[in-house]
Amino acid sequence: MTSPLTDLRDRTLDSLRVSVTDRCNLRCHYCMPEEEYVWLPRQSILRHEETGRLVKVFASLGVSKVRITGGEPLLRRDLPRLVELIKASRGIVDLAMTTNGLVLESQAAALKAAGLDRVTISLDTLRPERFREFARRGRLDDVFAGIDAAHHAGLRGTKLNTVVIRGFNDDEIVEILEFGRVRGLEVRFIEYMDVGGATQWSPDDVVPRSEMLEVIRRHYGGADAAASRDDHGAPAERFQLPDGTEFGIIASTTAPFCGTCGRSRLTADGVWYLCLYADRGTDLKELVRAGATDEEIAAAIAAAWRSRDDRGAEERLAQPGRGPLFRVEGLRQDPHREMHTRGG
Ligand code: GTP
Ligand code: 5AD
Ligand code: SF4
Repeated sequence: MTSPLTDLRDRTLDSLRVSVTDRCNLRCHYCMPEEEYVWLPRQSILRHEETGRLVKVFASLGVSKVRITGGEPLLRRDLPRLVELIKASRGIVDLAMTTNGLVLESQAAALKAAGLDRVTISLDTLRPERFREFARRGRLDDVFAGIDAAHHAGLRGTKLNTVVIRGFNDDEIVEILEFGRVRGLEVRFIEYMDVGGATQWSPDDVVPRSEMLEVIRRHYGGADAAASRDDHGAPAERFQLPDGTEFGIIASTTAPFCGTCGRSRLTADGVWYLCLYADRGTDLKELVRAGATDEEIAAAIAAAWRSRDDRGAEERLAQPGRGPLFRVEGLRQDPHREMHTRGG
């Protein structure tokens, strides 16, 4: 066996997040708060065959986990076809998708049949009016239907992602945990992050892990660190309620996990980023469309990973007077800076 590909901080390239579209059918406050966006040009979007080929090359370099993201990935046509292509790559043992769930009901069965292993669904509130105000589009009932449909389609290991924002949904922590508990779904509470696109971010809006835990412990009479690790190496720290229910907290804002981060991300137009916060990426589409061989593409990927030194979230934490990462003008200059382009 060849030795694993490691970066300058000895982190192994093991997980790839593949964004399949920068479009979304919601406009969540923490991700897409503007009225208008600059979209990636249509002809620049990778065809599924191109994406599938890149994933195969990544797999040959040691990537074993792939997560399909967006924007909202389910807006992309023929997604089951891409799932099949990715599953056909040797070495991919975990293929997941992060979705807002709005149109999952009609697609869950086909995705499962194509080989998708699991989904993570965003669920920031259980209150329809709040959802409407926060996401500006869509209906919460459709998200609930999507959550049920994932189960009925036979998808297991479904997780719920809740970004906790002060004054918006910090009063729903226990209700959302209960929602997950009765359905056997793992809830992960996520600290609001100052990523590109979060132009309304302020440190005052962040509910830190310690505070979330306090609320949960007060209600349930305890929550200890869970003994089991997540088998997928998730960024979440896992905890256990007295009845054994497990939940996670992703504290990327106050306690970054850069030290062990082996994830990178591919945008829908084929630009590969080594960090959620990176300003520049490697244009793999250019290589693919210029007729590069798999070996040439692999060499470009390996060279970039070996010189990787990124620790974006840790650098942000060290920043005095932390505010939004980019202003609107900066995002318009280069939409690749947006979280919805980079894949949440
Ligand atoms: P699994 O490990 O496969 O369960 O998934 P995941 O937790 O990586 O995926 P998910 O898409 O659910 O991501 C959860 C949250 O973790 C995201 O919404 C982000 O808030 C945060 N996150 C994901 N990727 C990164 C990253 O590269 N850096 C940092 N700092 N945070 C990230
Ligand atoms: N802070 C934290 N998480 C975010 N996401 C998007 N924007 C942010 C942000 N500013 C995550 C959410 C959602 C996923 C697609 O992206 O977890 O579930
Ligand atoms: Fe919300 Fe995700 Fe869409 Fe952003 S990309 S607006 S987080 S559903």
